[in-house]
Amino acid sequence: MVRAIQVTKGGGDGPRFVELNDDELGEGDTLVDVLWSSLNFKDGLALAGNPGVVRVSPLVPGIDVVGRVVESVDARLAPGTEIVLTGAGLGETRNGGYAERARFDGALAVPVPEELGARRAAAIGTAGFTAAQAVLALEDHGIPDGPIAVTGASGGAGSIAVALLAAAGREVVAVTGSPDAQDWLRELGAADFVDRAEFAEAGKPLQAERWAGAIDGAGGATLHNLLAQTRHGGAVAAYGLVQSAELHTSVHPFILRGVALLGINSVEAGAVERARVWERLARDLDPDLLDRATTEIALDDVVDAGAAILAGRTRGRTVVAVNPDAGSDAAATAETPVTTAAAAANDTDA
Ligand SMILES: NC(=O)c1ccc[n+]([C@@H]2O[C@H](COP(=O)([O-])OP(=O)(O)OC[C@H]3O[C@@H](n4cnc5c(N)ncnc54)[C@H](OP(=O)(O)O)[C@@H]3O)[C@@H](O)[C@H]2O)c1
Repeated sequence: MVRAIQVTKGGGDGPRFVELNDDELGEGDTLVDVLWSSLNFKDGLALAGNPGVVRVSPLVPGIDVVGRVVESVDARLAPGTEIVLTGAGLGETRNGGYAERARFDGALAVPVPEELGARRAAAIGTAGFTAAQAVLALEDHGIPDGPIAVTGASGGAGSIAVALLAAAGREVVAVTGSPDAQDWLRELGAADFVDRAEFAEAGKPLQAERWAGAIDGAGGATLHNLLAQTRHGGAVAAYGLVQSAELHTSVHPFILRGVALLGINSVEAGAVERARVWERLARDLDPDLLDRATTEIALDDVVDAGAAILAGRTRGRTVVAVNPDAGSDAAATAETPVTTAAAAANDTDA
């Protein structure tokens, strides 16, 4: 039996801890011991029973899994391999990472990049993955030189977007409602700051041109204003709705300035895109900066942390230590029999 958090659609009596056996984890060709998960805004919604996220009931939330393979039909995923899977329905349409074991189809899982290791892969999680997708989308589209605005800058996705853009040599302007996060955002690479209150109300459909590009996790009036302030030929990559899911805008930025609105969906990313995104993250994200952006909590703390992220009381990324040492003995035996034998000999000597 493994320990798990379970929620029901609509919330019911709230999240509860349950014991599940392997047959209750769900369908899939790959079984993992979950080492780490993480906390995203969407996980906060799931823990609150939000029916837009909790699509099956009951559900183990947790849209990110970093796990060690127990068994898989996928030849890439030998027992003992550490893999990361974000989105792909985890914690929404199928059981996710807030359980000591998870079962899913392994085709979209990526071996944890060596440069990062398991904990950092979870610290990146969906939020960091999405930030990297947004950066790649701006680069693929091609934008002019000049400043790039990042909204929700002190949040999970926003903070990693700041770091990745700065690592790519871009001038980053952090749009934030958290003045106390400014020193830390400067360390991540923000060159300047704008109070998010400036974006709270929708302004004119075309405003002074400020941004070569933007990355937005807020939606609503914020996204409207970013579009209205983006320079000719620029682009806005949009992935979030913390302010509002509504977007009331005009066609003027598109037809008079050639501005592009690039939609980002991390959940449905295919295997080729996932490999590309993780490669970029492993290459460009400074591990020390990531560590400083990361708070670690235990599975027991997840419910409170879910309420905190919805209330805007978290900063950067939160990793969930589900069972970081799970299966490590078995993995050592499977992967490094010689070392294990040597260690056993040393033990005997001692
Ligand atoms: N499309 C996708 O595949 C995808 C993937 C991941 C996330 N998302 C979405 O992206 C958004 C951010 O996710 P996350 O996990 O990074 O969340 P998060 O850690 O909670 O970060 C959100 C940040 O937005 C800012 N914020 C809060 N309330 C706001 C408001 N009313 N108006 C403007 N800004 C506000 C805050 O930063 P400051 O205090 O610095 O302003 C907050 O830290 C969510 O909507 C999430 O669902 C989508």
